[in-house]
Amino acid sequence: MPLSLSAIVLAHSVVADLFVNITIPERGVFFVKNGILPPSGASSNSDKLVDLSATLGRSTVWNLVDKIPIKFDTFKPEGLVSLGEDRYVLSTTEHIVETERFANGAIINGTDRTTGAGFGHLMVFEGIGNFIGDAVMNSRGAEEFHLDGSDYDGEYIWGTLAQYRPNTTASLIKVYPKTLAAETLLHIPDHMGGVIHDVETNNIYTLN
Ligand SMILES: *[C@@H]1O[C@H](CO)[C@@H](O)[C@H](O)[C@H]1NC(C)=O
Ligand SMILES: *[C@@H]1O[C@H](CO)[C@@H](O)[C@H](O)[C@H]1NC(C)=O
Ligand SMILES: *[C@@H]1O[C@H](CO)[C@@H](O)[C@H](O)[C@H]1NC(C)=O
Repeated sequence: MPLSLSAIVLAHSVVADLFVNITIPERGVFFVKNGILPPSGASSNSDKLVDLSATLGRSTVWNLVDKIPIKFDTFKPEGLVSLGEDRYVLSTTEHIVETERFANGAIINGTDRTTGAGFGHLMVFEGIGNFIGDAVMNSRGAEEFHLDGSDYDGEYIWGTLAQYRPNTTASLIKVYPKTLAAETLLHIPDHMGGVIHDVETNNIYTLN
């Protein structure tokens, strides 16, 4: 399957605040521990990551260093970012109604299946796998409910909230880690499946 990357130069104009349905942590627990946001992995470890990636091959032996049993329903996970020692944020989609192919391979409105329905979640959990809180990025019945691979750049969590069918639409979203409040920065006329913020060039890369 060919992949194409699109680069978007960031203009910080917000299209709209996004409706976010948040389950807050219990009293005294916060999405970001001690309120301190760590630098992103890419900005602090990129040279090492590049060196190590260059040595990977079919014969690479992988050693399991840790295994964290997750103690809540993760739906269909797509992305994971770390917000420091004891916090992870999972981007995932809860599918409520599956999409269905149109009869006889028909293409209607430029796509090949029904919208389906669901909720795109960002779920925050502790290093030992305990659920802390959750933010649903769309309202019930919204066409764009599929939350894909995410990125953390030291300041924001980035995501694409897309229709779960080809050749449709997506929104580029930016989330504040401390509150999980979100903003829509761009509407994109295609399905987008992942996002990376290159902090050196300030480009955003998405994947269709
Ligand atoms: C195609 O788009 C039109 C106009 O937005 C809409 O009324 C119709 O329901 C759509 N068809 C399907 C099968 O989604
Ligand atoms: C989506 O669009 C591409 C490019 O126009 C086309 O090749 C492809 O068949 C379309 N896919 C569907 C499912 O409509
Ligand atoms: C909030 O999200 C949950 C799914 O986690 C859903 O059951 C509920 O209906 C949503 N509330 C609103 C107002 O959309």
